[in-house]
Amino acid sequence: MNITFLLNGETVELADVNPTATLLDWLREDRGLTGTKEGCNEGDCGACTVMVTDEGSSKALNACILFLPQLHGKAIRTIEGANGPDQQAHPVQQAMIDLHGSQCGFCTPGFVMSMVAGHTNGVTDHDTQLAGNLCRCTGYAPIIRAAQAAESQPVPAWVKDDQSFSCSKIPRGEAAGRGAEPPLLPTSSDELAAIYAQNPNATLIAGATDVGLWVTKQLRDLDPVIFLSRCDDLKNITITNDEIHIGAMVDMNRMCDTLTDLHPSYAEMIRRYASVQVRHAATVGGNIANGSPIGDNPPALIALGATLHLRKGDTRRQIPLEDFFIDYGKQDRSPGEFVEAVSFPRQPDRLKTYKLSKRFDQDISAVCGCFNITVTHDTVTRARIAFGGMAGTPKRATHVEAALIGKPWTAATIQAALPAFADDYLPLTDMRASATYRLETAKAMLERYFLEDQGEVTDVLKVTA
Ligand SMILES: Cc1cc2nc3c(=O)[nH]c(=O)nc-3n(C[C@H](O)[C@H](O)[C@H](O)COP(=O)(O)OP(=O)(O)OC[C@H]3O[C@@H](n4cnc5c(N)ncnc54)[C@H](O)[C@@H]3O)c2cc1C
Ligand code: FES
Ligand code: FES
Repeated sequence: MNITFLLNGETVELADVNPTATLLDWLREDRGLTGTKEGCNEGDCGACTVMVTDEGSSKALNACILFLPQLHGKAIRTIEGANGPDQQAHPVQQAMIDLHGSQCGFCTPGFVMSMVAGHTNGVTDHDTQLAGNLCRCTGYAPIIRAAQAAESQPVPAWVKDDQSFSCSKIPRGEAAGRGAEPPLLPTSSDELAAIYAQNPNATLIAGATDVGLWVTKQLRDLDPVIFLSRCDDLKNITITNDEIHIGAMVDMNRMCDTLTDLHPSYAEMIRRYASVQVRHAATVGGNIANGSPIGDNPPALIALGATLHLRKGDTRRQIPLEDFFIDYGKQDRSPGEFVEAVSFPRQPDRLKTYKLSKRFDQDISAVCGCFNITVTHDTVTRARIAFGGMAGTPKRATHVEAALIGKPWTAATIQAALPAFADDYLPLTDMRASATYRLETAKAMLERYFLEDQGEVTDVLKVTA
């Protein structure tokens, strides 16, 4: 397969690329660009952060779980390209020096590239921007001070140029990415449908935040693969008076932006999904299709009454999202069939999502409870409740729902419904939580939903005695 991208302003054309070679390995081993560090090699530490620019946006991404074909047609800036052509320091680099933001220096290139991306985009919430970067010795305060100090400095010309690089210098269209049979980089869902129908055993790669680890940690040989990154029509979000329709390739940061006004609690939960770098890559389609029992989107979407849109060749079907998850590791998807979109009805916002994990940032849920309960004239008229982390699949709490519907919206009703959790769920004990803890916290979440609805303010960041 042949691909083309810009690396620190220079056009790079690669022929016969191994489709599952990671950007990190290629930078360090083939290009000798060892400024980009390998820490965890699984998207957790940010030591490998680079900035990737496509039409109109610049993003911090983890190079360790980015496959080279995902970069076709884009501009990559590594730490070696953070400074200017005459070796001028980037404002964030100068601020890191002035404010002592680096001690041993191992994490520093990754921090600087996250800061360069944040600075380029005018980000001022540095805690969020840098939550995916780990530093083991300097401590975060000087680094955050450096990011704040750089805020007022203009974006240097050599970084601004990335936007025009990606649009003007890279050959686009038919010739690009077509060096191999079958073509691995379809440019539309129609093309994807045709290629996948002919190669139903291929592994689909969306954001690679799961699949990347199959390669870097499990050393799996994935052949053949099909990349979805250039299927622009799968990135559409359509909001009408009736529904919200989200393409499978919409990433988590765009999900968060879209949901902020519609369902703010869901958006807040996504703010805690991994890190900025992972959220730029991870897609809603991948988060559903992987069938994980601890994915954060499925319980929230099930609580919203979502429909899953599947396609195989020219045949499309729609199913309630909860029906997609048959059993642990088993989904209702046949070979050659892919997730095209997910949709849910427009509705008054009654959704609350509670993500329980050991850390606030960058952690997978132990339990994720999502509640969407309608109360009319003090009576529960509708309830959709779904959980992640409580079963082998994301699962609705149908017994709890039944215990609430038709009852007065009171503390007594809530207490009476709590035993029904044991009818819905038989959770596991694992490294994230014990079965007892999971069941008890699920009950506590329903109580919390009720109390918040009565006007009590809760905040997981505040600890009170
Ligand atoms: C550091 C880190 C932190 C994470 N934190 C969280 C977290 O807080 N919450 C959470 O829920 N997850 C988390 N994850 C898991 C991961 O981000 C998600 O599961 C992600 O949404 C997967 O999406 P993707 O686009 O990266 O999928 P990929 O890795 O590309 O694919 C995942 C699976 O889905 C299949 N697939 C992808 N797209 C489609 C499609 N359109 N149709 C059919 N099949 C498809 C692939 O073939 C593969 O089997 C984390 C991952 C990492 C590395
Ligand atoms: S090496 Fe840790 S995120 Fe890439
Ligand atoms: S400076 Fe040593 S790990 Fe951050």
